[in-house]
Amino acid sequence: MGKKRSKTSKKTSRRSKKRTVRVAMIGAGGMANAVHYPSLASFDDVTIAGICDIDEGRLNETADKYSIEKRYTDYRRMIDEVAPDGVYAVGPPHIMYDIWVWLLQQGLNIYTEKPMGMSFHQARMLAYLAEEHGCITQVSFQRRNSPLLVKMRKACLARGPIVHAICEFHKCNLVPYTGSSGFMIDDAIHAIDTVRWMCGGEVVDVQSRTKRACVPDINWIHADIQFDTGAIGFVQVNMSSGRRVFRVQMHAPGISTDAEVEGKGYLYKDNDYHGDVFDTKEVAGSNENYVFGGFQSKNREFIDSLKTGKTVCSSPYSDAIKTMEVADIILAQSILSGI
Ligand SMILES: NC(=O)c1ccc[n+]([C@@H]2O[C@H](COP(=O)([O-])OP(=O)(O)OC[C@H]3O[C@@H](n4cnc5c(N)ncnc54)[C@H](O)[C@@H]3O)[C@@H](O)[C@H]2O)c1
Repeated sequence: MGKKRSKTSKKTSRRSKKRTVRVAMIGAGGMANAVHYPSLASFDDVTIAGICDIDEGRLNETADKYSIEKRYTDYRRMIDEVAPDGVYAVGPPHIMYDIWVWLLQQGLNIYTEKPMGMSFHQARMLAYLAEEHGCITQVSFQRRNSPLLVKMRKACLARGPIVHAICEFHKCNLVPYTGSSGFMIDDAIHAIDTVRWMCGGEVVDVQSRTKRACVPDINWIHADIQFDTGAIGFVQVNMSSGRRVFRVQMHAPGISTDAEVEGKGYLYKDNDYHGDVFDTKEVAGSNENYVFGGFQSKNREFIDSLKTGKTVCSSPYSDAIKTMEVADIILAQSILSGI
């Protein structure tokens, strides 16, 4: 372990002299193309040094779009030839877990989508490997970076600590979830993570209820999460609702906010019923989802961490594992209650 750490600090000192960061990309799929390639392309200090996908159609389409010369179908070969400062491995966990493990074992810094594995066991192993090999890591929990929510949270905290916070995540999706992870790990995880971020501190208790509303799998989740700060967070997820909504409330002394990440945020102070209204695109200064959705900022943190060797990532594996743990506790409570 000592030897690995000294290798890492050598890497770090080389990194700190770098002005441009070289990243390699594994995966040219939906999410990667929607938000991660555009985020990286918006930075003038990032070079996409190589791209890998086993689907040659996707590989070439994305490589052509972003003028990436070095193209691979074998990620190990790409890593060997490109020697990147960081690697994006973007795809679902049942496909990517073994790749993430291998990358961490090579001591590589990685950016991955949520969820952080398909179970708490996988999350625990990923966090262990990242720590063991001194890797910089980031999980794409981008609601923490939504410019609108960051502004709302800052305004609340200026008045005092968060007393309670709520995150609602609903979709109109009345079909059985046949994907490998399930709604808890795939969708509710965002609401759990956002509540953790809003409340701050460490989770000390989780009380939950779940239901299977019109489908055979769990698609309705309610959890009360108690934090050591004294704050309490409420998670409410319903995948059989009327429409998609990702909405939060934060309450601090004499101030509260009610905000939809993809819409408007309202800030109320001292009994003012009208409140101040903010638009997510205006606050972000962009109509692009990858910007107002918080993805660009999430990517920026990873790149800045690679440049200095000191992590400023808001969702390193050491933190994201805590969100996975809460999700697994809710699943365990669900099984114990016979749902
Ligand atoms: N953060 C969010 O708000 C958000 C929103 C939607 C989805 N997601 C997450 O994003 C993830 C899905 O990402 P995606 O949409 O880019 O996935 P995708 O399935 O569209 O793409 C994955 C790509 O990886 C390639 N691939 C598979 N095995 C490979 C290998 N061995 N080597 C190289 N390439 C390989 C596939 O060919 C595919 O092109 C999921 O975990 C999902 O939960 C996150």
